[in-house]
Amino acid sequence: MDIAVIGSNMVDLITYLERMPEEGETLEAPEFEMGCGGKGANQAVAAGRLGSDVLMVTKVGNDLFGQNTIENFKKNGIRTDAVEIGTKTSGVAPIFVDPNAKNRILIIQGANSELLPETVENYRHQIEEAKLIILQLEIPLETVYKAIDMGAELGIPVLLNPAPANPALDLEYVKKCTYFAPNESELGILTDMPVGSLGEIKAAAASLIQKGVKNLIVTMGDKGVLWMTEEKETVIEGKKVDAIDTTGAGDSFIGCFAHYLTKGYVIEESLQKANLYAAQAVQGRGTQSSYPTKEEFLAY
Ligand code: RIB
Repeated sequence: MDIAVIGSNMVDLITYLERMPEEGETLEAPEFEMGCGGKGANQAVAAGRLGSDVLMVTKVGNDLFGQNTIENFKKNGIRTDAVEIGTKTSGVAPIFVDPNAKNRILIIQGANSELLPETVENYRHQIEEAKLIILQLEIPLETVYKAIDMGAELGIPVLLNPAPANPALDLEYVKKCTYFAPNESELGILTDMPVGSLGEIKAAAASLIQKGVKNLIVTMGDKGVLWMTEEKETVIEGKKVDAIDTTGAGDSFIGCFAHYLTKGYVIEESLQKANLYAAQAVQGRGTQSSYPTKEEFLAY
């Protein structure tokens, strides 16, 4: 097995709009799309579409959405033995995408809040077969910490994508991860430093490196990616494309990076490929529906 994703799944309710309504205003939006999402599930699906063997550890809702999410994992070749049905309803994410392809996302965790440390412990034997563990922050923090500790115990590298940003995230756990991958705004929230320019982003990143973070990977949208370690910093330029919908682009990046990394590619090359994969994904609508298959990506 290549990758264990321990994280969230959601139902994305995406409204495409011209502008946000004012207080008290009712506004008609031109289009709507519903699909499978959630940062954990998105990352698993991106890696799965590229051909990785992925285990998903998650809690779906006790409703029709939950069943649909399980079917979706199966369709994308993802192992579902560690997908449990919670007692709550499915996690949902109302998303608003503006004409510049930028999004605003709300999340309601639902059953994701029931993914507890014990659940992760129950699947230790499956998780221990993975070459990489991927985590995000749409599940309880104690579950994330449990998974980080399990990775250390099993000698499996952990990639933590701190999304959505949570200022309560304990840096001691971040330091145990092999890869820490925030986007620029999450970096700003976590460091409480400005991130308006590349220089500011580098300074904020350097502050985390000084505190002991290992491989810091900052995704910067169409500006590219910054990879910083104690020894060096590398900027991989973004690819300029006509974006339609950036929802889930960061997740497609993480899934693709993990795929190539676990297939033996070096970090820099894996980042370059992930950059391209995300650039391709933003040219399609929806979240997972915009993620290319291996064939589509290779053709790109
Ligand atoms: O990163 C995009 C994702 O954030 C969406 O799929 C939504 O479900 C939220 O989790």
